[in-house]
Amino acid sequence: MKGASYLPFLALIPSAICSYFVNFDASNDSLSDASKIGQLNLEAARGDKVSSNQQDLYIKLGADPNGTAALRCHRVKGDIRSEYHALSGKTEKDTTYYIGYQFSLAEIQKSLMIWQFKEYEANKDGGANIPLAMEIVNGQLQFQYQASSDSKREAQWSTDVTANTVYSVGIVINTSSPGWVQLYWNGDLQGFSSIEGKSNLTATTFPGRADPKFGAYRGEEVDIDTYIYKIQIGTEINDIASAADLDL
Ligand SMILES: *[C@@H]1O[C@H](CO)[C@@H](O)[C@H](O)[C@H]1NC(C)=O
Ligand SMILES: *[C@@H]1O[C@H](CO)[C@@H](O)[C@H](O)[C@H]1NC(C)=O
Ligand SMILES: *[C@@H]1O[C@H](CO)[C@@H](O)[C@H](O)[C@H]1NC(C)=O
Ligand SMILES: *[C@@H]1O[C@H](CO)[C@@H](O)[C@H](O)[C@H]1NC(C)=O
Repeated sequence: MKGASYLPFLALIPSAICSYFVNFDASNDSLSDASKIGQLNLEAARGDKVSSNQQDLYIKLGADPNGTAALRCHRVKGDIRSEYHALSGKTEKDTTYYIGYQFSLAEIQKSLMIWQFKEYEANKDGGANIPLAMEIVNGQLQFQYQASSDSKREAQWSTDVTANTVYSVGIVINTSSPGWVQLYWNGDLQGFSSIEGKSNLTATTFPGRADPKFGAYRGEEVDIDTYIYKIQIGTEINDIASAADLDL
């Protein structure tokens, strides 16, 4: 297991070594430094960015309501964002990223987005603003794909979710043009509705440069707490076995 800070050295070593861009585990003292996930993104009202944790708006290591170690993403009503932005400026095209994410939600709130693959360069130039996302719509968690700036985010998959329940997701993203996406939910590979239940969605995942974000965005009509137990980002499926709860 390697922290992101070891990657410059790993780059010199020929492949086949399990390496992580991010390996966060709230329950493991040696992996629970949240600052290694990436940049803290806090926003009170839209546009009112906050540079560090506040009493009412923060992401801190703590515990979920059951006392299990977790990174708590906390916002009061009206606040819009408590997210970690991973791999900021470091994602690349023609790559396959494996992303594992274990979380629970205190509120199942309309429009709450708990994960994004957010575009930063081509979104002012025809590219989708958020090529991939996980968002609560009609009480369900959707996995969404937005093909371009002219299209809406379309649900490709959805599931019922309940508050105070631990879920494990695995997202595989190939950033070629076009690229492709796969989704694992609680350890099982999922089918996408737009391709008749097949599991490999051809998609423009990386219009210019898109990066992954974790936590809570939108759904600002109520107080929001989301809890992150694990995040793993790597270059092969084995890298996310723990966070995506895969039985490999
Ligand atoms: C915690 O993480 C370290 C580093 O990856 C690993 O060697 C160790 O086995 C982990 N501890 C537990 C209890 O899982
Ligand atoms: C990404 O997918 C394309 C085909 O969609 C494939 O040619 C390419 O090898 C993949 N890249 C990686 C790094 O997996
Ligand atoms: C908290 O514990 C209850 C009772 O065991 C369980 O049903 C629930 O899933 C747990 N919640 C989390 C987030 O682990
Ligand atoms: C998904 O499909 C593309 C071709 O469209 C292929 O290159 C890629 O290997 C597939 N991915 C997986 C995981 O099967």
